[in-house]
This record gives sequence, C-alpha cells and structure tokens, in this order.
Amino acid sequence: MITVGFSQVGAESDWRTANSESMKSTFSEKNGYKLIFDDAQQKQENQLTAIRNFIQQEVDYILLAPVTETGWDTVLQEAKDAGIPVIIVDRMVDVSDDSLYTTWIGTDALCEGRKAAEWLNGFAEAKGIAASDIHIADIQGTIGSTAQIGRTKGLEEGVDKYGWDLVAQQTGEFTQAKGQEVMESILKQSGDDIDVVYCENDNEAFGAIDAIKAAGYEVGGEEGQILVMSFDTTNAGLTDTLSGKIICDTECNPLHGPRVEEIIKKLEDGKDVEKKAYVEEEMFAYDDTVKSVKVDDKDYDVTKITQEILDKRAY
Ligand code: AHR
Repeated sequence: MITVGFSQVGAESDWRTANSESMKSTFSEKNGYKLIFDDAQQKQENQLTAIRNFIQQEVDYILLAPVTETGWDTVLQEAKDAGIPVIIVDRMVDVSDDSLYTTWIGTDALCEGRKAAEWLNGFAEAKGIAASDIHIADIQGTIGSTAQIGRTKGLEEGVDKYGWDLVAQQTGEFTQAKGQEVMESILKQSGDDIDVVYCENDNEAFGAIDAIKAAGYEVGGEEGQILVMSFDTTNAGLTDTLSGKIICDTECNPLHGPRVEEIIKKLEDGKDVEKKAYVEEEMFAYDDTVKSVKVDDKDYDVTKITQEILDKRAY
C-alpha cells in the first residue's frame, strides 16, 4: 500500500470539487493507496501544517496543490530532507531551488489568459466593435495563485495590445459569493460603462451574473448586453455557456488523479519523470463567431458548446 498525502487548496469552486473527486477516486484503497486528504480552506498556513503532518506520518508521496506560488522553500526543504518526493499539482510554486520538488503537472494559466484575450479580440472584430468601446471589469482569482497570475497577465497583455479599457480589477477569490459582491460594487461605480466581465473562474462568473441581473442589466452576446467570460469549463459553467450567460469559457482541466498516479507509478519503477508537464485544454463558446485563436503561433480551436458535448463531458 502506497501512502499519499494530498494538500488541497480548498473546496471553494466546482472545479476544485472535480479535482478532489479525481484524486480520491484514483488514490483509493481498492487501487492500493492510502490517501490522507487535507482541505486547506484557501489558507497557506494550513497547507504548511498539513505538509509537516504528512512528513511526521512518513507518507510515501506528498501532493501539493498550492494556494499561492511563494512561501514554500522551507517546508519543501523539510520534505526533501525527509526523503519524500513532492508532486506539485495544478498551480505552481515559485522556489529558489527546483530540486525542492520532484515534478509539477498542471495548467498553463498564462496560455489560458492569452487564449481568452484573443477570443475577445476575434469576437470584437467579427462584430465590428471598436477597441475603444470595450470596457472591461476583471474579477481576479486568489491573488498570487498561478491561475490568477496567468489569467490576469493574459488579459493585461490584450489590453495593451488592442487598446481596450480596463475599468476595474479586483479579486473575487475564486468564489461565487465574492464574485457577486465584487460585481455589485463595480456596477454601483461604473455600471453603464461595463461591456465585458472577465471572470477568472466559473464560480466568480455565477456570482457576477447574479449581480448583473439583479442590477437590471442583461448578459449575453447581443448589442447592449454584458459579455461574461470565464475559465474552468465545469458542467455548470458550460451549462451557462450553452444558454449564452457565459459567452466564452476557457478550460482548466481538473482531472489530475490519473495523471499523478502515472507519475507515481514511474517513480515507483525508478523511471525518470518530466520536471514540468502542461495539460492539453480546450475552449468553448456560446456561438461560432470565433472559430479559433492563435497564441504563440499555435492555433487553438474554439468549440461551439452543444447539449450533446455537455452530456459527454467527464466534469
Ligand atoms: O487553480 C485552478 C483554479 O483554482 C480554478 O480555475 C479555480 O476554479 C480554482 O479555484
């Protein structure tokens, strides 16, 4: 039996639930594992405590989905000194010495942000909307997390490149409640000015949509309506994309359980593993106005979401 300690960021989003389920179903007793699961409730100090507990319990592997990128050097050194391999999952760590972790598997959040920005430019061009008429509110994720850093940067690059107006930028902490609260306050200050709400995950989008509707505005892709963009492509997110409430949803794939198991199997067999591995991710939109986007010379398809596609998806 292989013992695995997993420090999860929290349970704040539908994405995270899918991620935790993927880990739990993979690292089950039936599959030969003992999983010690710790929910950090979005607090790094809880993750530091969890990792120290895993070291004390002499687990075989530590899996860490870090809440933010910085602040890991000391605890990862302790794991290294104890001879426990650490696999970083989904978000990245920013450490002075890469040998403090064994490998990382996760999402390319900057690429996601760039894809979303290129989609917005493609949509605006196809609809004849001038860049100066695009006023954006950015509801950011947890500040300092890989997902926030990359998605915010992707948008900011688009703002610089295309000349859009970034009216507001505030964290919604990746939660529905905070997304709604932040959207309410943005609408109070600059309601009539907002054309696009760039939510850095689906749960923030759900909260923002509720706030937009409650304030008497409409969401969707028609003239005069507010475009809501999002990330994750959870089942609920794509259901809102199907109805047009979310105009474009960029995938962040949470199904890391089997990928991490493959890494552990290789390590158990004494094989080398890649230091960094990015997961392939898709893009979905309400309609087919934009068929593909180009980022760093690579083309990415944008799929018009249908009920049939939604029914076949795993999360
Ligand atoms: O790191 C992945 C991000 O974190 C997901 O987009 C979000 O839903 C979660 O909170």
